Amino acid sequence: MKIASVSPVLQPVTIGSLQLKNRIVMAPMTRSRADDAGVPPDYAADYYAQRAGAGLIITEATNISAQARGYPRTPGIWTDHQVAAWTRVTEAVHRRDGKIFLQLWHTGRMSHPDMQDGAIPVAPSAIKPQGQIRVHDGMKEFVTPRALRTDEIAGIVDDYRHAAANAKRAGFDGVEIHSANNYLLEQFVRNSTNQRTDEYGGSIENRLRFPLAVVKAVLEVWPGDRVGIRISPATTAPGETPLDSNPMATFGAYVRALSQLGLLYVHDIEGVTQLSRDTDSGVSFTELREQFNGAYIANNQYTLRLAEETLAAGDADLFSIGRPFIANPDLVDRLRVGGPLAEAPKEYWYGGDSTGYSDWPELHREPLVNA
Ligand SMILES: Cc1cc2nc3c(=O)[nH]c(=O)nc-3n(C[C@H](O)[C@H](O)[C@H](O)COP(=O)(O)O)c2cc1C
Repeated sequence: MKIASVSPVLQPVTIGSLQLKNRIVMAPMTRSRADDAGVPPDYAADYYAQRAGAGLIITEATNISAQARGYPRTPGIWTDHQVAAWTRVTEAVHRRDGKIFLQLWHTGRMSHPDMQDGAIPVAPSAIKPQGQIRVHDGMKEFVTPRALRTDEIAGIVDDYRHAAANAKRAGFDGVEIHSANNYLLEQFVRNSTNQRTDEYGGSIENRLRFPLAVVKAVLEVWPGDRVGIRISPATTAPGETPLDSNPMATFGAYVRALSQLGLLYVHDIEGVTQLSRDTDSGVSFTELREQFNGAYIANNQYTLRLAEETLAAGDADLFSIGRPFIANPDLVDRLRVGGPLAEAPKEYWYGGDSTGYSDWPELHREPLVNA
């Protein structure tokens, strides 16, 4: 009898103290199903548990505080109700022997007064993003954010510490600090969005001061091998955000500092947008990876074939996959047997209810609900 060999990408692996079923990570994906108090719905537990075949799940980005909010119906982790709902999610994932990290988020200037109870969104500097943002009743122009006062920054660091502690209470296996996609942390890192003249702006060292303070605060709550970070040095979305003027110097210094702090992994979005692999940006992800001692999660349009090639070349340890997980809850099984992949219409990406979210069938099974 001939037994097909299992792809090395789909075999178990130990990263730090985490034993993972395989090297596939479910990428964080905002799905906008929470209620207006930032509480995930009951069916979020089904959605995540259905995807527990991934070696590791990273949740959708989750607001660390009321001020962190930028988009409608995104969840939070600053209230007890939110913690209770997330506890149901982690328990459901653990019952299926899965591992799940919470992604900690502050949107900074990628927000709107409609999402802030009328307040102006905060940012390192008063620089307006280009274009529009989705609010409760459609799309609106971005506004010019308010530059944070120096004396406000410690309070945001405290919010991260509190959110990280709540993630622990909710039973997560760890947390991922969202320092990608031009949200608050990356707004501080890049000199295109940080023009401060205090100790949080100017030199690379100064621009990294706030993000590294956040990392250190999270490390007061979690051991380093339960904390990852996501970066996107080549990404211009959202808000048509310009790159740093010297991304290799800036992000090189960042990953070296993160390495010294003993983080579990760096999770890179390898492309100019999240949704394109165009790398005409002067950023070498291989070089960045070499400056970090922990694991490296590669992301952006990875297929099993590309993951196998990248693993064989020694260029990444884990591979996060986003969009294919939306319509294929059993994605890893499908990759294993070379099964067909379903595709989710974009109308299901953000907002709505369990339809197009927790009702995608597994291969050879009847639809769970509604379809
Ligand atoms: C619907 C949707 C929501 C997303 N939400 C998040 C998010 O909350 N946090 C984040 O870091 N990235 C988010 N992303 C980016 C994905 O994590 C990932 O980088 C992107 O989809 C590219 O990977 P893929 O080609 O495997 O889909 C989102 C992408 C999509 C399509």
